[in-house]
Amino acid sequence: MNLNEVNEKLSDVFGTPFSDILEFEKIIKKNDYKNLLELGFAHGKSSVFFATILKENSNETDKGHLTTIDLRSAKNRKPNIEELLSAFDLNDYVTVYHERISYNWRLMKLIQENKEPIFDFVYIDGAHDWYNDGFAFFLVDKLLKPGGAIIFDDYNWNYSTSVSLKNTDFVKNMDEDEKTIPQIKLVFDLLVKSHPNYENCHLINNDTAVAYKKSKIQERKLKNLKNLKSDYSFLIESAKRTIFLDLNAVISSLRF
Ligand SMILES: C[S@@+](CC[C@H](N)C(=O)[O-])C[C@H]1O[C@@H](n2cnc3c(N)ncnc32)[C@H](O)[C@@H]1O
Repeated sequence: MNLNEVNEKLSDVFGTPFSDILEFEKIIKKNDYKNLLELGFAHGKSSVFFATILKENSNETDKGHLTTIDLRSAKNRKPNIEELLSAFDLNDYVTVYHERISYNWRLMKLIQENKEPIFDFVYIDGAHDWYNDGFAFFLVDKLLKPGGAIIFDDYNWNYSTSVSLKNTDFVKNMDEDEKTIPQIKLVFDLLVKSHPNYENCHLINNDTAVAYKKSKIQERKLKNLKNLKSDYSFLIESAKRTIFLDLNAVISSLRF
């Protein structure tokens, strides 16, 4: 089944707009990304789209895989991710994790289990808050390969306009700025854009931001520059020592 057919079948299920999914498909295919991570799957609609893209792209040596994480409460959704993945025969392409408090706990385990970065594409569409997603960014950075991409959904979303949350005590008790400032925008503008590992940080539409992790070649260039700097410092130190010794010799010869 292709993406359009999946979209028709899931038209009643809540999830990321199809136009965004088509943008993600372009990025995934263009860069041949095979190992995807998703933070926040809700019913699993975007997970089904990602797994469909992987299936279309898969070859004999590498099928590709999606790791996706949400809260335990996602099990109670109707439909839930397990039902959707089975209905579209995509179980082989996806590993699903349900966490008690946050995907950040699972990210800790993934960091513990993997010495090297394992993902090349990360889609963050979960809490949309500074506390979870600001920290998630730094954890994800440890798991993202050079040349990989991170996408942040809901760049402009804030609590005060959320139909489902704005009247809850949780939101009513917030300070005004916490309610009204788009917190993903804070994460992206303050943490991602200034991070030395990232480049080409931009919006792909009004509400979705992408950042690319610098590739190995750029990392190597940076390392070479640093090495060059330390080589020069070494040369300068040696020259200073030589001049000092020579001066000492001159002073000594003047004394005697
Ligand atoms: C907008 S929905 C995800 C929609 C999904 N990506 C799609 O397009 O089909 C956000 C999801 O993030 C989950 N979530 C929010 N905060 C979370 C956290 N700290 N850890 C794990 N999941 C979280 C919610 O349970 C919810 O299901």
